[in-house]
Amino acid sequence: MVANVSTSAEIERAPDSPPPPPAPQPRYRIAVLASGRGSNLQALLDAVADGSLSADIVGVFSDKPKAHALQRARDAGVAAIALAPKSFATRDGFDAAFFAEVDAVRPDLIVCAGYMRLIGAKAVDARRGRVINIHPSLLPDFKGLHTHQQALAAGATEHGASVHFVTADLDGGPVIAQARVPVLAGDDEHSLAERVLAREHPLLLASLRLFADRDVMLREDSVHIRGERAAPLQLSSNNAFA
Ligand code: GRF
Repeated sequence: MVANVSTSAEIERAPDSPPPPPAPQPRYRIAVLASGRGSNLQALLDAVADGSLSADIVGVFSDKPKAHALQRARDAGVAAIALAPKSFATRDGFDAAFFAEVDAVRPDLIVCAGYMRLIGAKAVDARRGRVINIHPSLLPDFKGLHTHQQALAAGATEHGASVHFVTADLDGGPVIAQARVPVLAGDDEHSLAERVLAREHPLLLASLRLFADRDVMLREDSVHIRGERAAPLQLSSNNAFA
């Protein structure tokens, strides 16, 4: 007999009762890629631990087996994996093996936080809209390395950091959010880097809260926040977006 079979939910619900509330969203899963110190990673681990970021760091991945970031992950009980590029003949070969490890933890988002290796176009394109990076400049200014030195050499009066979607265009993907700092008289590379880094951590956290709330998307070539095309968000001094 298959005709007129009702599910138990249908039987229990009166015809005019409101629909049941939607099932809660599963916890957001973040994979972090890092090559060195890992202070941005630590800010994320701390925020997950204290409940101020509703997401899980589901794996930390590095191209540098000795990266301190790996130890920070292990100390927090997070899986930490490193693959050495020199074991692979080509960039695509390395990327394929590396991202197979990343994909295995089923991340909703892949966050490059001080990941210093160029990711090949093939690996990036396959994960479009799911890879972001934090870069220590106000993009599109000062792409590449030594950004603080570049800012000082250019006589910039303002500097900062940007969180952007990763595309095959190095440091050129759509910018999601920025934090600004002044360049002060007497600054050197070190003092400026320190001032920027202090804003990177809250910038990355505020950005990831938006992702964890499923509020950010890359559509075509632009950032959309809650369905609307958006200019880069600006981090205020209270660590919220203006
Ligand atoms: C940060 O300045 C980040 O913007 C850049 O590399 C640095 C990484 O620092 N991409 P840490 O490893 O997170 O301390």
